[in-house]
Amino acid sequence: MNFLSELASPIAVDVYRNRRERVLAALRAQGGGVAIVSTAPEVMRNRDTDYPFRHDSYFYYLTGFTEPEATLVLNANARDGEPASILFCREKNAERETWEGFRFGPEAARDAFGLDAAHPIAALDEQVPRLIADQPALFYSLGTSAEIDAQVRGWLAAVRAQGRSGVRAPSKALHLLPIIDEMRLVKDAHEVAIMRRAASISAEAHLRAMRACRPGMREYEIEAELLYTFRRHGAQAPAYGSIVAAGANACVLHYPAGNAIARDGDLILIDAACELDGYASDITRTFPASGRFTPAQRELYDIVLAAQAAAIGATRAGASFDAPHQAAVKVLSQGLLDTGIIDKTKVGSVDDVIAERAYMRFYMHRTGHWIGMDVHDAGEYREADGPRDEEGARPWRRLAAGNMLTVEPGLYVRAAEDVPERYWNIGIRIEDDALVTATGCELLTREVPVAADEIEALMRESASN
Ligand code: GLY
Ligand code: MN
Ligand code: MN
Repeated sequence: MNFLSELASPIAVDVYRNRRERVLAALRAQGGGVAIVSTAPEVMRNRDTDYPFRHDSYFYYLTGFTEPEATLVLNANARDGEPASILFCREKNAERETWEGFRFGPEAARDAFGLDAAHPIAALDEQVPRLIADQPALFYSLGTSAEIDAQVRGWLAAVRAQGRSGVRAPSKALHLLPIIDEMRLVKDAHEVAIMRRAASISAEAHLRAMRACRPGMREYEIEAELLYTFRRHGAQAPAYGSIVAAGANACVLHYPAGNAIARDGDLILIDAACELDGYASDITRTFPASGRFTPAQRELYDIVLAAQAAAIGATRAGASFDAPHQAAVKVLSQGLLDTGIIDKTKVGSVDDVIAERAYMRFYMHRTGHWIGMDVHDAGEYREADGPRDEEGARPWRRLAAGNMLTVEPGLYVRAAEDVPERYWNIGIRIEDDALVTATGCELLTREVPVAADEIEALMRESASN
């Protein structure tokens, strides 16, 4: 089963063609050669049942093609009249299509996806040695999978075996993915439009979950409201395992929705969002099961919200990727001192809390990550070079217009003798998806409220219905 067999949007042939052109230009700038990128393998779940097929993001980025068993070959040294973009895919097969559904087949795929040529996937091992013979370099996802490395070794061996007929194998193998990572970091209009829609569906799912929530419900019942909304609007799947955590479970960062009961007085942390047409969204909201925050919950909630506002304020083109995190850490650290969760008499000032990383007991993750086709998207967080810091790390990358990242501070306070009891077992995270613009950022996920008063008003309204 291929969960992307039906896209919500039409195939954007020019978008994919343009991306392939950019990769070809990048290969030429590095001396030319051939690039090979395959889609993901199908993976068996149990016996004759596979996991739902999810294409490889790099392959999809360059083709828009979602069938399994497909490979793209880009030949940067194609001569006039020779194909530069070649797809290998499954052939039409009436019998298999009766069981598994429609396949394009090479000819129709070539036309529908704007490729120069297409062949049956069964011809790959015969054709690739011919395509890479006498090429200066082979670009592929170097060292990311034993299967791919073995496949490449086989192709190189096949070229070398023809050495006496005068052809030579490429003398260089280069990593292809960093070229595509740089492109993926800056979202084009096509991507932004899909991500807006994904964000909007996910926001609606959170609204539905908040409205449906009543004390006594189990986490999985709340999860069902989210999943229903994703599919109801055509999103193909959750972008990652949904977290629905009631009470103390919210302090477990990757807690999957389980069967715990959300009790009156508990907070519920939901970190869940959909994938639409191959693009992720990522939203977290935390709200009271009863519809009303307790005073202690509200105190911590407002600290996290203020930390998020500070991080959002630091998210703009030209700023360091680390700036939003540092802004959030400062507000959270101040809040931890003000509430007495960190004892002022032991760690004096906010600067000390930060320098000694005392906040990390209550805030142990970073404030954001790239988001795109993958929820934790591709792309470097650090510059390629530049002066290293005291820990030997390269400088943080500067944000650029078109980058998409999450802003997701949190506080997680477990029961502990040295922490005031009123805050025990409170876990809060607030997460939105931000598109970096020249002057700041635009939040794509704000159709679901974040202010505590607004959340309470929304839940009050639904309680009276
Ligand atoms: N939902 C995964 C994350 O927030 O990073
Ligand atoms: Mn996230
Ligand atoms: Mn998340």
